[in-house]
Amino acid sequence: MTILGIESSCDETSAAVVRDGVLLSNIISSQYFHSEYGGVVPELASRAHLRAVLPIVREALREARIGVSELDAVAATQGPGLIGSLLVGLNVGKSLSVSLDIPFLPVHHIEAHLFSTFLQDPHPEFPFLGLVVSGGHTLLVRVDAIGEYALLGSTIDDAAGEAFDKVAKMMDLGFPGGPAIDRCAALGNATAHSFPRPLLDSNDFRFSFSGLKTAVLYHLRRLATAGALSLTDNERNDICASFQRAVVDVLIGKAIRAATDNGIRDIALVGGVSANSELQRRLRAAGSDHSVRVFIPDMIYSTDNAAMVARLASLQCDLEGKGTLHAPAFARIGDTLFDAHS
Ligand code: KG4
Ligand code: ZN
Repeated sequence: MTILGIESSCDETSAAVVRDGVLLSNIISSQYFHSEYGGVVPELASRAHLRAVLPIVREALREARIGVSELDAVAATQGPGLIGSLLVGLNVGKSLSVSLDIPFLPVHHIEAHLFSTFLQDPHPEFPFLGLVVSGGHTLLVRVDAIGEYALLGSTIDDAAGEAFDKVAKMMDLGFPGGPAIDRCAALGNATAHSFPRPLLDSNDFRFSFSGLKTAVLYHLRRLATAGALSLTDNERNDICASFQRAVVDVLIGKAIRAATDNGIRDIALVGGVSANSELQRRLRAAGSDHSVRVFIPDMIYSTDNAAMVARLASLQCDLEGKGTLHAPAFARIGDTLFDAHS
């Protein structure tokens, strides 16, 4: 079974080929120009996807050394994401499926992130806990099988990645902010400031990062009123380290409790924020303290990519064996997949 996957939900255009569950190619084109605007500009993103998508698909087929006639199915991200961006990949996928007379498999972006851990060996075993931390979502999901999910909790305001991006913006660290904060934090003192750990001790699995972001903002304002014209490198690094420590404390505290409460032995840490070095290091340590195995995709599969789309489609194909063209794009996680099974 040879599957082409296409991902265009936000600011990466990506295509990948998976044959019999093995990844043959994964081509990603990142839209770096958004950093000029301090965030992703939806209209510019969809235009850039339009320009990039066909060359990227061709390159993915070339690297996989296969012709289009060898494809058994094509998959593309259906949502959640930016509607204009999603429509590009979705319609290229559907068009290929019609012209080649092969099934089209619409893929849920968050579900694809969960199975990004299945691009490597070993991978988590069911039931596992998914901690999904991206620019748009923060969720804890119990994964009982492919397609069987129980949403344990999600953020009630900002996503973890969104908090990283907004705090980085306050300190002019550029966009996306996560990697920059990660680098600065490595040089700072994480105990310099005691920022809040929102909902850490709440008896549920909800998250909230908006108050933490505001605490950093007020701290920066206090420094400015005290006469500081600009932050010194040390001050900036300490703020980044203290902020990151607070986010990581909350994510790890909740994830370990969710795993132990549910008797789960495997955790998959996925989504762009899973690239964070402190989060990776401390979750692995907490996992070994609690006899929980931690699975984290390689960096290239943690941020948005089509390999995870093609891999999930290949797992679904084994189960269902057929696709559908009735797959409209959707922007929000809404009452799809995860809510339906919670
Ligand atoms: O999964 P992703 O590529 O796109 C979405 O589906 O949102 O996640 C992007 C997010 C951004 O907010 C970015 O700042 C964050 O992942 N990110 C990081 C790191 N690398 C990327 N956050 C913290 N530390 C990192 N090293
Ligand atoms: Zn994503």
